[in-house]
Amino acid sequence: MIELSHVTKSFPQGRSAVTALDDLSLTIGDREMFGIVGESGSGKSTLLRLINHLEAPTSGTVRVGGEDLGALSPRELRVRRRGIGMVFQQFNLLGNATVHDNVARPLRLQRRREPDTVQQMLEFVKMAGHSRKHPSQLSGGEQQRVAIARALVTRPKILLCDEPTSALDSGTTDEVMAILRDVRDRFGTTIVLVSHELEVIKASCDRAAVLSGGRLAALTEVTPPPPRERFDCYAARAREFLA
Ligand SMILES: Nc1ncnc2c1ncn2[C@@H]1O[C@H](COP(=O)(O)OP(=O)(O)O)[C@@H](O)[C@H]1O
Ligand SMILES: [Mg+2]
Repeated sequence: MIELSHVTKSFPQGRSAVTALDDLSLTIGDREMFGIVGESGSGKSTLLRLINHLEAPTSGTVRVGGEDLGALSPRELRVRRRGIGMVFQQFNLLGNATVHDNVARPLRLQRRREPDTVQQMLEFVKMAGHSRKHPSQLSGGEQQRVAIARALVTRPKILLCDEPTSALDSGTTDEVMAILRDVRDRFGTTIVLVSHELEVIKASCDRAAVLSGGRLAALTEVTPPPPRERFDCYAARAREFLA
């Protein structure tokens, strides 16, 4: 569970400060696919960077899995961050490394040797046939799939995606979003998806927050309510109880 409680983040600017997030409180459940929408400058990227503590809140608390990230030592924080993957708009792949080596790199940085995992992740994103290529030989959508494989190779519990489809055309956007939904369904990953495109969020997320000027302008249910049977089941149990 990710819990932001009265989080304010301001950045010094000259003699004053810019408030990127203003008293924001929000809870994101495990295995949720949670969207964050808002115009450019509304604080979306700052919010993501608070979840892996690349930024510390100016005030308020950010808890992940019940732990207050602000209370952890730098070493503990490094370990916790390994449980959080990140995907970016511009893919951020290493141009001079092969697809395979890009995906293997996070494991290498953690001194883990799991060659099978690299291959499995490339298969999962349907890029196994491209492992010896370099990023420049791939389309944007293919590069983003490799970046998703790289983010998942350490099996993070949380995946933070910052405008993952904003550099892609609409057909490729659908492909990448389908993969992200698969990630959640197959690995049970909690996904926080930032986008300025409402349609992308609407098509995939369980719930979404709308940010405006660093404030929570709305919190929406995106998916339809639970199926009828569930209510019927509760009703049946209630009748049993009352009988
Ligand atoms: N490192 C920083 N230093 C100064 N200002 C920043 C920094 N990061 C973000 N901001 C400011 O905070 C506001 C929110 O930025 P950001 O979170 O990047 O918004 P979004 O991702 O929604 O476009 C903007 O006004 C931006 O200029
Ligand atoms: Mg941003």
